[in-house]
Amino acid sequence: MYPIELVKVSKSFPAVEKGEKDLLILDQIDLAVEDGVSTAIIGKSGSGKSTLLQIAGGLDKPVSGQVFCSGTDFATLSDRDKSYQRNRHIGFIFQANLLLEDFSALENVMSPALIAGKTEKECRDRAVMLLERTGLKERMNHYPAQLSGGEKQRVAICRALMNDPDVILADEPTGALDEENASAVEDLLIELAGTEKKSLLLVTHNNDFASRCDKVYLLKNRKLTLLKDEK
Ligand SMILES: Nc1ncnc2c1ncn2[C@@H]1O[C@H](COP(=O)(O)OP(=O)(O)OP(=O)(O)O)[C@@H](O)[C@H]1O
Ligand SMILES: [Mg+2]
Repeated sequence: MYPIELVKVSKSFPAVEKGEKDLLILDQIDLAVEDGVSTAIIGKSGSGKSTLLQIAGGLDKPVSGQVFCSGTDFATLSDRDKSYQRNRHIGFIFQANLLLEDFSALENVMSPALIAGKTEKECRDRAVMLLERTGLKERMNHYPAQLSGGEKQRVAICRALMNDPDVILADEPTGALDEENASAVEDLLIELAGTEKKSLLLVTHNNDFASRCDKVYLLKNRKLTLLKDEK
């Protein structure tokens, strides 16, 4: 059983122009995100990386094939159960960090655990620990508008780790940052995935960042090709 497994996943979007054929983006993709293994997907803009990641996280549906999250086929779950499955097993980090603007850094990090029904104290203790580990001790009570881009991404990483997920799905997590901040966030993500023994599925344009993962795939012409396998 894998934290995430895609079996013969295809995805097309309906044509935007009337009378045109559907646009096939992913063609019978197989991908297993293994326990404790970091996997990167690289590929040109428009190749379907974000689409693949959304499908892997159950945020979008394939037109055919199956997606298993810790052994459960997403297609068999109601929307509510899917949210529950995601909340328990998956941490998401996106390019735009999507923090809740009206909540402090601490409250943002606590939110997935509050949703999961943990006590306020449990949530607070773990959130504080994560924020301290990521160097944000002095920034916990800041609102997103009072944080730098790099700090916001660190908050997003803490939030993704909050429920101790099996797997972190990250879509261009450093895409909006300058070089210095990007490399600090890269270091943190790779280090935390390692020490916390998380699986990581990372989508990035940055080949150096990708090469720090155990496995690297290229998404091209709707198919995945394995470029590196050090596991
Ligand atoms: N809802 C949609 N309807 C129609 N086409 C779509 C839709 N969403 C995405 N596409 C198309 O699917 C293709 C893949 O998009 P996707 O966002 O997955 O690419 P990407 O590899 O993540 O690109 P980038 O590196 O620029 O983020 C693109 O050509 C895009 O135009
Ligand atoms: Mg994308």
